[in-house]
Amino acid sequence: MLFIVGIPLFYLEVSLGQFCSMGAAKCWDFAPIFKGVGYSMIAISTLVTIYYNVIMAWSQFYFVVSFTDKLPWDSCDSSYNTDDCSLKWPLVECTNSNMQQMSNGTCFDASGFLGIYNTSLFEDVTGRKRVSPSEEYWTYNVLNLSSGLSDVGSLRWYLATSLLAAWVITFLCLLKGIKTTGKVVYFTVLFPYAVLLILFVRGVTLDSARKGIEFYIKPKFDKLKDAKGQPTLEATRRINLKD
Ligand SMILES: *[C@@H]1O[C@H](CO)[C@@H](O)[C@H](O)[C@H]1NC(C)=O
Repeated sequence: MLFIVGIPLFYLEVSLGQFCSMGAAKCWDFAPIFKGVGYSMIAISTLVTIYYNVIMAWSQFYFVVSFTDKLPWDSCDSSYNTDDCSLKWPLVECTNSNMQQMSNGTCFDASGFLGIYNTSLFEDVTGRKRVSPSEEYWTYNVLNLSSGLSDVGSLRWYLATSLLAAWVITFLCLLKGIKTTGKVVYFTVLFPYAVLLILFVRGVTLDSARKGIEFYIKPKFDKLKDAKGQPTLEATRRINLKD
């Protein structure tokens, strides 16, 4: 897809823009039959702008709540955390002779539950999945996801405020037209690279960074056959530990 569609289309877009030095609607004057393509681009840009501002709102929210000693998605102790929160299911070796390996992948000793010694066994037998505290923070605290489209849920006022701020920033960037936009891109184009560089250095210096890089780079070709993707949260059944 990258070579057949992605790069040719991107190249067309960039070179056509350079060639015309005009907006998407005017650009097709040299081939009026394609005018619809220009209008479609404007329609698509409108949709993209709407959902990109939502992503900006989320980013701004995380930016603000990050100014704290202890990140709120650092633990499993908050009220919104479920029993599946991964820190409640530590990974253990369970090879010691006074430890007992249960058939559901958990490990016990005389003092009680120690953790999980085999995650795939645990997931197969119990139907449960360990969920990282950051994911639970996102799903249950930030978004407070409802069960589906039919259930709209309540307004998250801090996300709504953040979304308004995103639109105000967008408006201010465009207020003076191309003059300010040209200046703003110095920041918006360069700053992500600074952040990516910081995240890269931070990432590769973490424990087991190698495993993460391998997971990221190594293609799993059987995933191409799987159009369904990840199992949903709803699909994880709750079964008692002792079962
Ligand atoms: C975990 O359990 C599965 C299923 O019984 C088994 O195939 C796998 O080898 C186990 N993995 C480890 C690391 O013991």
